[in-house]
Amino acid sequence: MLTFANKTDYFSVNGMYTKLANMHHNWYPTHYNKYYGIYKQPFLYATEIKQGSNIYIIAREDGKNVGFCDLDISGKKAWVAGIFVNPKYRGKGIATEMLEKAKTIAKEKGFNELNLCVCNKNPSAEQLYKRLGFKTQQVYEFASSMVTKL
Ligand SMILES: CC(C)(COP(=O)(O)OP(=O)(O)OC[C@H]1O[C@@H](n2cnc3c(N)ncnc32)[C@H](O)[C@@H]1OP(=O)(O)O)[C@@H](O)C(=O)NCCC(=O)NCCS
Repeated sequence: MLTFANKTDYFSVNGMYTKLANMHHNWYPTHYNKYYGIYKQPFLYATEIKQGSNIYIIAREDGKNVGFCDLDISGKKAWVAGIFVNPKYRGKGIATEMLEKAKTIAKEKGFNELNLCVCNKNPSAEQLYKRLGFKTQQVYEFASSMVTKL
């Protein structure tokens, strides 16, 4: 089931975001360091959600939060800034469902495309994004940007 984060979710979102950031740090320690945007301070979730700059889609299963998708709509482009699913719940379509929801919301907010970046050490995530219609836009040293029309 999908829902949206409120203040009772800050702690679990922070835990999942930290795992996502640590994965990237382990791949490229110098690039994904504590100054990189993917390492968010816990208070930032509260601020982002209150200000409406970011929408946190939450996947709930068995009474707990098992995934999140951070949709950043603060700028000229809509971005999936982070997505994570608890390993025990992977391969069940949860990320697919969250990304489809992110597309719908971004479109409703008036964006005509949805962007994201994927680390070049993460081919399974890239595969998932391609299946959902994202196309590689630019290839950088550590990651590629991808975009899909809405
Ligand atoms: C990438 C990630 C969000 C995907 O979440 P998910 O809920 O497993 O995604 P889905 O179930 O919608 O689709 C996963 C794909 O993996 C396949 N899969 C099957 N079993 C799987 C399993 N046990 N674990 C992971 N993927 C599995 C699915 O068939 C699907 O393949 P396809 O895209 O080629 O059809 C999740 O693996 C994750 O949290 N990874 C760590 C964080 C991460 O890499 N985030 C992306 C950063 S850019």
